[in-house]
Amino acid sequence: MCGIIGAVTESAIKPVLAGLGRLEYRGYDSSGISIVINNEIKTRKVQGKLKKLKHILAEQPLDGEYAIGHTRWATHGKATLINAHPHQCGQVSVVHNGIIENHLQLKQQLLQWGHILKSSTDSEVIPHLINHYLSLQMTQEEAIERTIRQLKGSYALGVLINGVEKNLYAIKQGSPLVISEGNDGAYMASDAMALGRDINKIYYPKDNELIKLNADNVQLCNASLNKKIHYVNNTYYENIISKGKYSSFMEKEIFEQVDLLSNAMSKQQASSYTAINFTKLNKITIVACGTSYYAAAVAKFWFEKYANISVAIDIASEYRYRSPIITDNELTIFVSQSGETADTLAALAYAKSKKAQTLALVNVCNSSIAREAGFFFEIFAGPEIGVASTKAFTCQLAVFYKMCIEAAKQRAFISHTELRKLASYFQLVPYLIKKVLKQSSDMKRLAKKLSTYSNVLFLGRGIVTPIAQEGALKLKEISYIHAEAYAAGELKHGPIALLDEQMPVVVLAPKDSLTDKLLSNIQEVQARNAPVFIIGDACIREYINLQEDEFFELPSIPESILPFITVLPMQLLALYCAQALERNVDQPRNLAKSVTVE
Ligand code: F6R
Repeated sequence: MCGIIGAVTESAIKPVLAGLGRLEYRGYDSSGISIVINNEIKTRKVQGKLKKLKHILAEQPLDGEYAIGHTRWATHGKATLINAHPHQCGQVSVVHNGIIENHLQLKQQLLQWGHILKSSTDSEVIPHLINHYLSLQMTQEEAIERTIRQLKGSYALGVLINGVEKNLYAIKQGSPLVISEGNDGAYMASDAMALGRDINKIYYPKDNELIKLNADNVQLCNASLNKKIHYVNNTYYENIISKGKYSSFMEKEIFEQVDLLSNAMSKQQASSYTAINFTKLNKITIVACGTSYYAAAVAKFWFEKYANISVAIDIASEYRYRSPIITDNELTIFVSQSGETADTLAALAYAKSKKAQTLALVNVCNSSIAREAGFFFEIFAGPEIGVASTKAFTCQLAVFYKMCIEAAKQRAFISHTELRKLASYFQLVPYLIKKVLKQSSDMKRLAKKLSTYSNVLFLGRGIVTPIAQEGALKLKEISYIHAEAYAAGELKHGPIALLDEQMPVVVLAPKDSLTDKLLSNIQEVQARNAPVFIIGDACIREYINLQEDEFFELPSIPESILPFITVLPMQLLALYCAQALERNVDQPRNLAKSVTVE
């Protein structure tokens, strides 16, 4: 959840600060650096965003050959200065991403040894333990390995030791970590993107491989470093980390969807969904969190309607705690943009322990979930930086849609003509997305009005119900307007009690088989004086009286591809409401891009 980085190079502060900027999507509660200067470790930290740290370092510059940095998403201990990383004990400084579950016992032990711990984090025990073992005359490597054997939980660590030798060590257990050797130095970070243009070769360490980075080389301690190196295209990462003409990464990523969906479609044709024998399956279970869960909810609709396969969907944080029944002819699919979400990863481990057939849909191919699953499909969204997921959602849908066509074909549940129709509708997706994006100024107008309210209800029916839910999630996470979504038919079973002049209702109303029923639901809302905003087909306006800034017109869309197109207005609505309220769109409060803690 936090971002960590370390560098051994002539002027280490520059890549560390630049890298922290690229890691801020992982958390931005506090930031800090440690650097070796004149044979001493100096540490600077701030509560809050990186720009504060940069400001301090601009006024009092520090530089040296060995540095580590951290940007935090608070788990144990509040977002305060004292809890900011790096944590230092003597000449040992540590940055940590993950959770040390047994930190209270370790703290107790350290107190008995006479150590004074200042923070309320789980991480601070690490430099103290290493320092303790160094004081017992262990070598640096022995001291780290002895410490690691005591830690329970997940971690990726950067450990800076300024002893007789200066070294930067990196080690991980269940949390992401990359190592890179460039022409000018050695680096470690939470992800490859953090290293920007300076990387060309990267190495993904295994759990508990201790890696030493120093001015001479990168070494795997206690074993020969038989590295599987990945070569990286630097310009690719440069484009990814620039916002270009857009005001936020989220906006850029929303507008990227036209091209991405055309490219992703051709890339996905190359992937082989034929690897799955759908005729043998009698059930699919799909497990995911947040936006990825709503992609699963859409997939359920498709698989059941077009391929006649029963689909159960599960929230990852619940799955392994409720004894799910896993049968022989079942495929369990794990969906995760980051591939690092701790809840989804733990659910996958649970399914594997029960001998389930597992498949992952991920955006990050080197991620833990991709590696752990029986097999995986890439969604080809490219790195997603905005904390609110947008393009990954439509790319996840694209993979599910293609899989569903393959399943329908194998199971011969629908006719050849219907199959061909499903495939041809898919070709319309980029064109229709473009059409919706061209009307973005209409959505800006609607969002301006909606953003004056503190609570919003979203309604949908059928296949767009998960899209209404995704709309509510997007709105609350980046604008902080309280929003909830319901299948429109559920309104009368409770939520209708909330309706009055201060409770606007956003209705997702494309033209489909349920339009007439939805029109009755809208009448029910209007009869209770609740302001109504409709994202719908032009025909809706014949029945419902709305002002210009209360309506966003959807083009005519075939029912099977409705989720791809209707989610665009939802994403734009959240973006423009957040902008109207002057929120930080890419760094919403309390959130982070990869949720690597349970
Ligand atoms: C919402 C959002 C989150 C993620 C969720 C799962 O905009 O981004 O709800 O969808 O945390 O993340 P992944 O897909 O990386 O497992």
